[in-house]
Amino acid sequence: MPIIAVIGAQWGDEGKGKVVDLLAEKARVVVRFSGGDNAGHTVINQYGEFGLHLIPSGIFYPGVTCIIGNGVVINPAVLINEIDQLNQRGVDTTGLFISDRAHLIMPYHTLLDGLEEESRGGKAIGTTRKGVGPAFADKTARLGIRIGDLLDKEVFQERLRSILEYKNTILTKIYGVKPLSLDEIYNQYCQYGERLAPRIRETTVMLAEALDRHELVMLEGAQGTLLDPDFGTYPYTTSSSPLAGGSCLGAGVGPTRIDRVLGVFKAYCTRVGSGPMPTELKDETGNLIRERAHEYGTTTGRPRRCGWFDAVVGRFSARINGLTGIAITRLDVLDILPSLKICTSYKLDGQKIDYFPGSVAILERCQPIYEELAGWQSPTSDIRDYEQLPVEAKQYIARLEELISCPVNIISVGAERGQTIHKLPIF
Ligand code: GDP
Ligand code: IMO
Ligand code: MG
Repeated sequence: MPIIAVIGAQWGDEGKGKVVDLLAEKARVVVRFSGGDNAGHTVINQYGEFGLHLIPSGIFYPGVTCIIGNGVVINPAVLINEIDQLNQRGVDTTGLFISDRAHLIMPYHTLLDGLEEESRGGKAIGTTRKGVGPAFADKTARLGIRIGDLLDKEVFQERLRSILEYKNTILTKIYGVKPLSLDEIYNQYCQYGERLAPRIRETTVMLAEALDRHELVMLEGAQGTLLDPDFGTYPYTTSSSPLAGGSCLGAGVGPTRIDRVLGVFKAYCTRVGSGPMPTELKDETGNLIRERAHEYGTTTGRPRRCGWFDAVVGRFSARINGLTGIAITRLDVLDILPSLKICTSYKLDGQKIDYFPGSVAILERCQPIYEELAGWQSPTSDIRDYEQLPVEAKQYIARLEELISCPVNIISVGAERGQTIHKLPIF
């Protein structure tokens, strides 16, 4: 059986949680490969509604092994709380494992995330302030502490001692705040380590064994393509790669092992945080979408910026990720609109362009060029068969497929697992 990567194809919150929860029924292993608890993946199924931040959305199927991969940064307090919450609600988490190579979010990371944001003033990125950016920065700067380090208290203490000395210098000398206590952090993280130790593994071996047994492995993306530090709207991005390419690094599999890359798109666009979004609607239609769809962040509760579907982004995302198929979510949100717009290209300084510019300064000058389509103005949430969709909805989907040059496999018409239309088999 193959590996399928499920990737956010816009600015995050596309509905990856719903899609992974749906598809994980057939998987034996699900791996989260990037980000940290900046992610918020909503899953609604027979157990209720969940907002998962770190645990893969495959956790609801007994017998599915869920792995938090090396590419994730882990706040152990958040993870332990998430495990406890799931257990309290009757979800079995014995199949959850953590890569020993995953880096830890330390108390100075969360503190610095807030302090750095405040020091940016009007140029703030609008991070989730979960410490994710500072933790990835330390990973790259070789100042990180990995979860596997907690398994040897002496190693951990020594590493924490030297790093904390440096971090405290920054906290006190640059930001003028109080230093953090070595003993407090050490004791607290030792407790986390004891609690999580039975789950910490060399997870790439587990993955390789699953592949040898020909089991289906799913790689669960966090964030979205336009938040990638290389290909997103830099510097208004996150700090790890949400791309299909990032899934190899963050899970520990070679690119040749990935057979399918499913891009998850909303039927429109949203973004939370700062940075350009060419199709943003700062009008009544934008407000209507936000309220109808309750577009407020799963992690921070912030209102999401809403706008029309951007097919320039769609094409770019398909190319950069090598998408083999698409899941369109939240089609039902558009049910009430009399007409819909799709951005097909941009106007830049009087010229039409159809590529996504690398510079935010240029992107900010781009005006969307729209094509208008008729709305269907009838409910779609109870439809399960593609042919039963209103003709205008089918035309909308067909036009997206054409503009992105990629087939649509799945159409989601509601937040619950079953509210799904399987248009084309993925395998
Ligand atoms: P993720 O981060 O990509 O997993 O997405 P989020 O969970 O942050 O945001 C997606 C939101 O859309 C959640 O509130 C989901 O419950 C909801 N959702 C997903 N698919 C659909 C759908 O087809 N229709 C509607 N109305 N809501 C959906
Ligand atoms: P899921 O997995 C939407 C955004 C933040 C901010 C930027 C940097 O639920 O789709 P960070 O805390 O990562 O340093 O913030 O990235 N961001 C997300 N936006 N969905 C997410 O995750 C996000 N994770 C980070 O809002 O603009
Ligand atoms: Mg989300």
